[in-house]
Amino acid sequence: MVRLLLLCLLWGCLLTAVHPEPSTECKEKQYPVSSQCCDFCPPGRKLVSDCTESTPTECSSCGKDEFQDKWNRERHCHQHKYCDPNLGLRVQRVGTSETDTTCTCDEGQHCTGGDCESCTLHSLCPQGFGVKQIGTGVSDTICEPCPAGFFSNVSSAFEKCHPWTSCETKGLVERRAGTNKTDTVCGESWRMGPGGRLGRFAVSVESPGGDPHHYGDPVLCPVGVLVYQKGGQGAGQ
Ligand SMILES: *[C@@H]1O[C@H](CO)[C@@H](O)[C@H](O)[C@H]1NC(C)=O
Ligand SMILES: *[C@@H]1O[C@H](CO)[C@@H](O)[C@H](O)[C@H]1NC(C)=O
Repeated sequence: MVRLLLLCLLWGCLLTAVHPEPSTECKEKQYPVSSQCCDFCPPGRKLVSDCTESTPTECSSCGKDEFQDKWNRERHCHQHKYCDPNLGLRVQRVGTSETDTTCTCDEGQHCTGGDCESCTLHSLCPQGFGVKQIGTGVSDTICEPCPAGFFSNVSSAFEKCHPWTSCETKGLVERRAGTNKTDTVCGESWRMGPGGRLGRFAVSVESPGGDPHHYGDPVLCPVGVLVYQKGGQGAGQ
């Protein structure tokens, strides 16, 4: 207990001895040692020994795979970061004696953790949403809701919202309006058959993205039957 107290006292003395030392007297990029100012070691180098009255600070270069990015008085440089391929990481920028290595993730994945410690798969934009920005090694996919006039019928990390098919420009009529998840469904317009007399059932022509199992709109059937009957009567007379 007494020893501890003594130790505390000693530390206290040391601290007060060191602390009020007029560090402001040293210039920038210098640090105080005893009663003098030593130059810091520059980036890329580490401290070997403090300066003395007759010798300047002695520094040495960081070793291979090491770096120091600050003016410093550290005895060791820092180890370059290792981009572990088992975690999906690969080198983005090789480190130098003054900069650390930076990592990024393999195709289709992006970093997690502030310092790219590991990788995770890009998010998919669900149906009704399109990809606004494809994910990169360091950023996830950015999705946006498909605005009016656009749709996305897939969950994807690449697909944008696609514009609805314009039935009009294809010479067709709209059979079902598009939604944010489905394309417009177009159908052939009502018109006389090549014989000139029989009405034709409206046959839907599926635009890509439409439901391929959707045939003529049932509401139109009675009309078709009526026209057919009228045509038949005409032929009989
Ligand atoms: C898609 O449309 C539906 C119906 O209009 C709406 O409720 C939904 O919020 C829309 N989804 C998106 C992603 O905008
Ligand atoms: C989505 O739409 C595309 C083109 O419009 C179509 O080829 C595809 O079959 C549709 N996919 C699904 C899952 O509905």
